[in-house]
Amino acid sequence: MSPLLWWRDAVIYQVYPRSFADADGDGMGDLRGITSRLDHLVELGVDALWMSPFYPSPQHDAGYDVADYRDVDPRFGTLADFDKLMAAAKERGLRVIVDLVPNHTSSDHAWFQEALAAGPGSHARDRYHFRKGFGVDGELPPNGWQSVFGGPAWTRVADGEWYLHLFDTSQPDLNWDLPEVRAMFEDVLRFWLDRGVDGFRVDVAHGLIKETGLPDWTAAQVPITSPGAEHRTPPMWDQDGVHEVYRSWRRILDSYPGDRMMVGEAWVAPAERLARYVRPDEMNQAFNFNYLMAPWTAADQREAIESSLAGVEPVGAICTWVLSNHDVVRHASRLGFPPGHSTQGGIGVDDPQPDEALGLRRARAATLLMLSLPGSAYLYQGEELGLPEHTTLPDAVRQDPTWTRSGHEVRGRDGCRVPIPWEADAPSYGFGPGAGAWLPQPADWARFAADRERGVPGSTMSMYVEALRLRRANGLGRGTLTWTDAAWNEAPDAVDFRNGAVRVITNFGAAPIPLPPGEVLLASGDLAADGGLPPDTTAWLRA
Ligand code: NOJ
Repeated sequence: MSPLLWWRDAVIYQVYPRSFADADGDGMGDLRGITSRLDHLVELGVDALWMSPFYPSPQHDAGYDVADYRDVDPRFGTLADFDKLMAAAKERGLRVIVDLVPNHTSSDHAWFQEALAAGPGSHARDRYHFRKGFGVDGELPPNGWQSVFGGPAWTRVADGEWYLHLFDTSQPDLNWDLPEVRAMFEDVLRFWLDRGVDGFRVDVAHGLIKETGLPDWTAAQVPITSPGAEHRTPPMWDQDGVHEVYRSWRRILDSYPGDRMMVGEAWVAPAERLARYVRPDEMNQAFNFNYLMAPWTAADQREAIESSLAGVEPVGAICTWVLSNHDVVRHASRLGFPPGHSTQGGIGVDDPQPDEALGLRRARAATLLMLSLPGSAYLYQGEELGLPEHTTLPDAVRQDPTWTRSGHEVRGRDGCRVPIPWEADAPSYGFGPGAGAWLPQPADWARFAADRERGVPGSTMSMYVEALRLRRANGLGRGTLTWTDAAWNEAPDAVDFRNGAVRVITNFGAAPIPLPPGEVLLASGDLAADGGLPPDTTAWLRA
């Protein structure tokens, strides 16, 4: 397989630095910890890792509030640690993608501090969206926009002006109409490209440009933007102007050797609209959240797969697939509820709890289905262990700003961010040498520890290893999906297609279905005694 355009079929493993591995024992993961566990990624057989932010930050939004784009937060290490991580990854043939957060800075960033000090009308304020308010005394925000984390998207400063923050108050939105802002990020790209990164995950890629004049928008913030809402595109998302930014970045990436890539975090629907981010001169990939959100029914999954493939086809891009990340309930728990049950706001101790066994069974089936699809797939640390969400975290330890900004209505994302278990019998399950972790781990996670699953037939980790091996051996990532027109597609509860020599069947129904003759290469669960495919199970066959 051509090493060129490696990202077209890559399996990319998301490392959440706070929660992956803690080398210094302070309870928070770090870069040295990541380096020490790279062999796990090699063992899994992934192509690359993407690291969520590790830059200097007050950590009001777990590092997505960046105070300095060209350094490493002391909590995570140093630039020298980063260089060592890069070298260790390269040695192992792993590519490295870093996170870029261009929509907003931290309020601790030098630019924002300068803006506060410089006052109204200053050039420093122009780098952000400062406005006067309405009302007798300017006491009302400039418009009705809401923050994604809850509450108004505006905060008033001491001199009476308001600034825009689509996320936390500590994340002021940058003004991308200013050439200086664009120039700064071009330098940041070069800084990390010069250090050898293979690409960038672009945070809030659909948000950089706001509609001129910041027209009012009274609808609630929705996690995925669709022009259907209020019959127009929301003025803060998916504006046409964002694309010029990515064209300029692509020119920079292309000026470096070695297929550097960008993947956009753009919560944009429908698929045709998302495809605009992956036109030939823009990003290489965009996350496919429509797929992630598709309910667990054959019809919904088929539709999500079909519309995703059809969406990118006209622009010649590849599809990406993802089931879990640091912003959503882990799929082993999400799928433990009946289809239609929303876990969007997270899960708390007094919420309905998922059926753990069902969730894991479906998660394994979902993963095997996902890894058979053509394109690039993203894994989130811990999912290879079958790790569920921590659904009973005490509210007192929650750190996601969503929890406080929503007035304690939305639990938020801490449950998927809990440090992962490596060793069943070690303190903090081998997360680090210290006793604790920045979020408490459940008492019963020893059974998910990597050292309990490694090499054990039938374990979730073994299934991932085998799936990634077969995916590579059969070129599934570069293949073509063809729906089978056998009787299977008339079976409303099955998803059934071929990708090259491999036939993939998932049973979403309540009763086993017979499998066609052929060698079963891999299945997400035991087959029925008569060889049939049980409910909530995926099989890969040579048939
Ligand atoms: C998306 C990131 O994935 C999320 O964790 C963060 O809170 C927001 N963007 C704001 O940066």
